[in-house]
Amino acid sequence: MDVFVIEGGRQLNGSIRINGSKNAALPLMAAALLTDEPLILSDVPNLSDIRNMTRLLTELGIESVSESSEHGQSITHRVTDPTQSHARYEIVRTMRASISTLGPLVAKRGSARVSLPGGCAIGQRPVDLHLRGLEALGAKITLDGGDIEATAPNGRLIGAPVFLGGPFGSTVLGTANIMSAATLAEGTTIIESAACEPEIVDLANMLNAMGAKISGAGSPRITIVGVESLGGTTHRVMPDRIEAGTYMCAAAVTGSELTLENCPLDAMMSAVDTLGHMGVHVDAVGSDADPMRRSCVISRAPEIKPVQITTQPHPGFPTDLQAQFMALLCLSNGNSVITEKIFPERFLHVAELCRMGAQIHRQGATAVVTGVKELTGAPVMASDLRASAGLVIAALAAKGTTIINRVYHIDRGYENLESKLAGVGASIRRADAEEFADSAMSH
Ligand code: EPU
Repeated sequence: MDVFVIEGGRQLNGSIRINGSKNAALPLMAAALLTDEPLILSDVPNLSDIRNMTRLLTELGIESVSESSEHGQSITHRVTDPTQSHARYEIVRTMRASISTLGPLVAKRGSARVSLPGGCAIGQRPVDLHLRGLEALGAKITLDGGDIEATAPNGRLIGAPVFLGGPFGSTVLGTANIMSAATLAEGTTIIESAACEPEIVDLANMLNAMGAKISGAGSPRITIVGVESLGGTTHRVMPDRIEAGTYMCAAAVTGSELTLENCPLDAMMSAVDTLGHMGVHVDAVGSDADPMRRSCVISRAPEIKPVQITTQPHPGFPTDLQAQFMALLCLSNGNSVITEKIFPERFLHVAELCRMGAQIHRQGATAVVTGVKELTGAPVMASDLRASAGLVIAALAAKGTTIINRVYHIDRGYENLESKLAGVGASIRRADAEEFADSAMSH
């Protein structure tokens, strides 16, 4: 197992290119199940989650050919065996986003068997809304041996009104699933309380380019007029707003001036606004026409000011940036309050940050962060993807050496994180955990 070894306190300088978005790419890849024609995606990040989705699609009879292109990794998907419809536990347990294949499978192939994802480090994560949505479209759903079995009677789903509001707001992958499935249903589907995340807009844009009739994506009400079939298309995945936000925090925590390229600023208003309140500036440069692919320069005032953050569905503050902002606020000049309204248990980074000298008091879904003058390097444990990114942010500013164990969590969502950061002057390297066995064991 690999670890990251980070010497804190280096200034960053230069430019980082933001990759295509993991969370946009996964349901876009699953949409390859909806067509008999080739689906070509470019700017697909090279990540373990993407490779797991490719493995799953291979089992579901989709051949994927990857090559490098003008816009990063390009993957061409082609159907080779339309009779497969079983997403096995062995793959689903490695990646919850496997559930995104359920809607496309039942819509196109008439039935699906997808292992029910279990809980994960950030909470319970049920899929009841996905299932209720598919039932509203006429699917018959049963649970057998830990697998969800979904069948469209007479082979085709039927358009219907679908309400996707749950106790924590809407569901992003649930909206992707139902919207994708409804493209091939008979009649019109209206999704009420749909997720408004930009990744849903990216998916709707691609499905429309394939011949779907979707309107309203990006708002809480999406209307889908079902069509008989979808064609292929070529689509460039939107840039990753969470990767961009993470590097914004890296620049801010080290007090550096850093340029980000291919940054989806238009999808990042709440994060950029929050940074502004903290005294961190995000200045768009150039006159690029596309507000989703801007270059911007990050810089900051001498002190980081404390703020209040509540995570919310888009366009509110994203839960996927909560840990990184918490790490940054550890070095602010006052008390910050962070409330997690999407995944109330998503605080695994708190104890690790405290090992580095942070002062954080958690009560339920709220954490109070009292800024300290300095963090100190320590051996720490990566737990989930974004919690681990928060530890990297803290380590970049900490005095001394931080060893982050279990970096496979980071590899799920950040392509070449260490070479991107090292390329702008950070002292970070990947090493074999054996080299640091003592610090890993003592932890
Ligand atoms: N929920 C339900 N029932 C459902 C589905 C969700 O109660 O059927 C609840 C969840 O437990 C949670 C809330 O609704 O409290 C929102 O969950 P959502 O379904 O929106 O999450 P998701 O679609 O499974 C995606 C991202 C997550 C991101 C969340 C929230 C992907 C692959 N994953 O998950 O990303 O945190 O939306 O924005 O798109 C990450 O990248 O690190 C990550 C965890």
